[in-house]
Amino acid sequence: MTSDSNCAVESSGLIEITGLSKTYRSKKLALVEALKNLDLLIGKGEVFGFLGPNGAGKSTTIKILTGQIRQTAGSAQLAGQTVSDYRCRRDLGYLPENPVFYDYLTATEYLAFVGRAFGMSDSVIRQRAGEVLGLLDLQHAAKRPMRGFSKGMVQRLGLAQTLIHDPQVFIFDEPMSGLDPVGRALVKQLIKDLKRQGKTVFFSTHITADVEEICDRVGVIVQGQLRAVDKVSDIVIGDTDNYRLHVRHGDGSVIEEIVSRNMLKQKVVNAWADQGALEKVVPVGRNLEDYFLDIVNNVNK
Ligand SMILES: Nc1ncnc2c1ncn2[C@@H]1O[C@H](COP(=O)(O)OP(=O)(O)O)[C@@H](O)[C@H]1O
Ligand SMILES: [Mg+2]
Repeated sequence: MTSDSNCAVESSGLIEITGLSKTYRSKKLALVEALKNLDLLIGKGEVFGFLGPNGAGKSTTIKILTGQIRQTAGSAQLAGQTVSDYRCRRDLGYLPENPVFYDYLTATEYLAFVGRAFGMSDSVIRQRAGEVLGLLDLQHAAKRPMRGFSKGMVQRLGLAQTLIHDPQVFIFDEPMSGLDPVGRALVKQLIKDLKRQGKTVFFSTHITADVEEICDRVGVIVQGQLRAVDKVSDIVIGDTDNYRLHVRHGDGSVIEEIVSRNMLKQKVVNAWADQGALEKVVPVGRNLEDYFLDIVNNVNK
């Protein structure tokens, strides 16, 4: 693990996890060590992707952070307060993995319920509910009971309720799950907007492309253990010695070629001289999927 990138954030992280472990014990089944000695520090204003395959321990971590289950060992703090203290959740927006709501309430009624739980006044709730329904493209559903909602609408309302009290920290468990491409784009934009406002977002996913697009850093968890923490920009661009060139020739054919850094200038000049249209020059680096699969395959060896 590149430990320096874990410490590059402010020393007083907004989310601080130290030696966190969880073993599930059930009467009939064997013990399950779902989380083993997790250390993680998330700084203010960071968007952090918690990436791992199914069963890796992502939801377990998030359930501990949100006070739903207790760790077996270790500690976790939000903004300096231990997660077992309910007060640390006043400034938190949380989206569970499979949100389930009271389906006889309308979207507006549900947001009012959440707003009141956070001590907001009715007039502020009214204004804020309109705003967040707009952000999640749910205005049309404001007065509809949730029982008629599609999976994607439920997911978007789940995100809307995290915003109602304008918290500083967001924890989302698989926020893009169940969304169509339009919904996914909406949620990615929402997370980018939160980042622009200086908010902190910690979210779990198994989809590398989502992390690549919106995260500052990524932590990879496999079989309950954190295997790597890195800046996404370090992984995705990386050091590259090769470039992929796309040149369109006069007859319409497109030639794709990988050229070395040394040859790049000459190839570009040649393409120009041949009157070819240089359509793309892309550095060939590792993408996040390669990085992720390398880690997972190493664990499974
Ligand atoms: N309540 C539970 N009782 C027993 N085992 C559990 C429980 N919840 C999760 N697990 C197990 O813990 C491991 C991690 O699960 P989870 O944190 O849900 O993974 P992820 O969210 O990364 O898919 C899995 O092996 C899962 O089966
Ligand atoms: Mg999960």
